[in-house]
Amino acid sequence: MSMLDIEFTESKISSVAAKLLKELKAGDILALKGQLAAGKTTLTRAILEKMGYTGRVSSPTFVLERRYRVDYKKITEVIHLDLYRLNTTEAKKFDWSEYLDQKDKLVIIEWPDRVEELLPKDTKEATIDIHDQQVRHLRFPTNSTTRH
Ligand SMILES: Nc1ncnc2c1ncn2[C@@H]1O[C@H](COP(=O)(O)OP(=O)(O)O)[C@@H](O)[C@H]1O
Ligand SMILES: [Mg+2]
Repeated sequence: MSMLDIEFTESKISSVAAKLLKELKAGDILALKGQLAAGKTTLTRAILEKMGYTGRVSSPTFVLERRYRVDYKKITEVIHLDLYRLNTTEAKKFDWSEYLDQKDKLVIIEWPDRVEELLPKDTKEATIDIHDQQVRHLRFPTNSTTRH
């Protein structure tokens, strides 16, 4: 299996975002894993910038989701979810219907483990580890989905 396996400082995040974006397409759900401050939101922002989005991108932690209109290949909207604050009961009731089969959307989910059993089988999964204060490590299996 091939892998995106990149160590990077924040100054390189734009090229990391470009490499990851190359592996994504309209209709994809990307589960973005990593501890607090790993850089999930920062990478999502860089991905949006790569897609040509010029507005502000802030963390959806308190609002659960933010949506961005884009015009990038077949993707017309990016839905950025952060499920950190979802409790177990809320997670069980989480309504996936508006996120599934969105053929022209890209869904990026921080803290996907909150809804692990509900994630569709073809969810793609990227993980960021903190190497040290400045260096992060992104792993993303390419040419296959990882789950189940
Ligand atoms: N190589 C790096 N990549 C991404 N963020 C980094 C890196 N090095 C340091 N940082 C910092 O780490 C923090 C990551 O925050 P954020 O993206 O909100 O994390 P998360 O969404 O995973 O909780 C930011 O303050 C960012 O400036
Ligand atoms: Mg975040």
